[in-house]
Amino acid sequence: MPNEQQHPNESELPETAVQLNHTAVYARDRQLSAEFLAVILGLKIGAPFGPFLPVDLGNGVTLDYYEKRDAPIQSQHYAFLVPDEQFDHMIARLEAVGVTYYADPSHTEPGHINRLFGGRGAYFDDPDGHNMEIMTRPYVRP
Ligand SMILES: [Fe+2]
Repeated sequence: MPNEQQHPNESELPETAVQLNHTAVYARDRQLSAEFLAVILGLKIGAPFGPFLPVDLGNGVTLDYYEKRDAPIQSQHYAFLVPDEQFDHMIARLEAVGVTYYADPSHTEPGHINRLFGGRGAYFDDPDGHNMEIMTRPYVRP
């Protein structure tokens, strides 16, 4: 039974605020893949940390590139909320390195961006086939 003193939206909030701090990103060549992302997004690669090569995203989250050579790499999806004024630069960098971008996650609309949620977005593969997404507005969930 809901507490009548409770704020109407309080029951929808998580009980604990948890922030993603880091995650490992599998790569055949951690230097190549970390550099690719850093160049496209305009980020820097950090100092190696054991087997990990970190790319700090600037919001407290680190992608730790980790080499996996014993089995095929399963493609994952990583989505980045990017500043609107940086979006065109990122698209230009993809074009400069010859990487096709797409408007959709299934990669059926090459060379196009999307305009979801009042922003702009695009998808592209990283060197290991991870499906990367850049967007200027977060998804609006119902
Ligand atoms: Fe996505």
